[in-house]
Amino acid sequence: MPEWWRERVIYQIYPRSFKDSNGDGVGDLVGITQKLDYLKDLGIGAIWISPFFKSPQADCGYDVSDYRAVDPMFGSDQDFETLLARAHELDIKVIIDLVLNHTSCEHPWFQEARKSKDNPKHDWYIWSDGPKPPNNWLCGFTLKNAWCWNEQTKEYYLGQFTPEQPEVNWRNKELHDEMMNVLKFWLERGVDGFRLDVVNFYFKDAQMRSNPRKITRMPYMFMDHKYDRNQPEVLDVAAEMRQICNSFGERALIGEVYADDTDLAAQFQGNNDRLNIAYNFDFLYQEFSGELFRKSAQKHYQSISKYSSDNQPNFTLSNHDQVRACTRYHDSNPARDILKQKIMCVMLLTLRGTPTIYYGEEIGMKNVKVPKHLRMDPVAHASFPVNLFGRDPERTPMQWSGAEFCGFSQTQPWLPVGDVKINVEDQINNPDSLLSFYKLVLKLRNESRTLKEGNINIMEGTGELFGYRRTFEGEKIQVYLNFGNKPVVVSAKGKILVQQEIDVGEELITLKALAILVIQRE
Ligand code: GLC
Repeated sequence: MPEWWRERVIYQIYPRSFKDSNGDGVGDLVGITQKLDYLKDLGIGAIWISPFFKSPQADCGYDVSDYRAVDPMFGSDQDFETLLARAHELDIKVIIDLVLNHTSCEHPWFQEARKSKDNPKHDWYIWSDGPKPPNNWLCGFTLKNAWCWNEQTKEYYLGQFTPEQPEVNWRNKELHDEMMNVLKFWLERGVDGFRLDVVNFYFKDAQMRSNPRKITRMPYMFMDHKYDRNQPEVLDVAAEMRQICNSFGERALIGEVYADDTDLAAQFQGNNDRLNIAYNFDFLYQEFSGELFRKSAQKHYQSISKYSSDNQPNFTLSNHDQVRACTRYHDSNPARDILKQKIMCVMLLTLRGTPTIYYGEEIGMKNVKVPKHLRMDPVAHASFPVNLFGRDPERTPMQWSGAEFCGFSQTQPWLPVGDVKINVEDQINNPDSLLSFYKLVLKLRNESRTLKEGNINIMEGTGELFGYRRTFEGEKIQVYLNFGNKPVVVSAKGKILVQQEIDVGEELITLKALAILVIQRE
């Protein structure tokens, strides 16, 4: 049998917004546990939970002040034990999110480190003497210089996200060992894998050289990030983490390799000595086009096979840092809108690779307008005009029902709720809903070795028709997705597994605008 991270569908949970069990307006671990049956029923095989560790929440939990403790906002250590046990009972794997590039400035390590240059923890962070910042590295959120002043030692420390997230020095042996102990701590508790936050940032140039200038679309990108990340030493750390994970059985390492070059992420993957999966974000930047998705998938398959032929592909349409796919591909005509979402669903779940679904995607949740005074994301406050609204709009409460506050909470949640008409309760018993469609396609995938493990052959030169064939031990499943508005005629005989907007003739099948045909070939 293939390893679980190759065949299961991953579902990303943003814990603050999934389900509030205690009526304080904030999602929590007990809430997640309560909804595990829903996820099981949907067909989910693994959950990735965004950080729930102790944190002052300067970057919504991606600023950790204790790697081993649950933040009281999300519950207790016992709540996590219960969540893990229930998930395992339901055969759902649990992936936790480790943020090991930086800590919170309130982490006791940094509190010590910043006191004096001869403090034993000082070298656990990255410092530079004043009076000026040593180079041109930028903070991605504020677009200002990434070096922050520490008055006590009269030095700068590095913070490429917010000043509240000082970056650790992975070249320090004690820090390095402590991070590995954090990994072991959670493995011993029984987690099945880790999502490694900005893993390609762990090492920076030892000489701290300035990045060369480069003309790109985004101001943050007016430089080639040659020296502030992506240093070769990180691959040794990946190999070591891999060894540790392997010693606990089949555990997955999934890296967030944030870069404008999609090829780079692929370099972090390797089945024996690197990460199992490095997130492929390319679909997040595509327009709604069969041609563009085809090219993107082809490029990804090529990239990941460069290092090892059985490297695992992966696809995702949305996450907590990007505008939701249902908003990106929104169509003002409601009938077309749902057809489009169903196309995205089939593409995500039938391409060869591990899919990740972002919470709410299965019901068509859209980004929610968050008024300025309610914005929580530091990006919303810092990086005008690059990201005008920040990332709150894609992080709003899960829409469970049409009740007040969408059945997420008894009280006004931490972020405003979206359109209550889009909710789980209404869709769950409606056979035509997006949720029922997701369930159908997930079931098909979960029961088909061809869809989970089979090879893929992508049809070339078909314009807006994205077509591919999956094959496994003599079985063939053909997928046709018509992203365009022009009808396309195909010759396909067999058992139709999933369909929308098709006309079946004696010999030929017509795919109308936004059609889907998944057919098991004779
Ligand atoms: C990653 C996270 C993002 C966070 C950043 C800093 O990109 O996905 O939410 O703000 O790292 O930790």
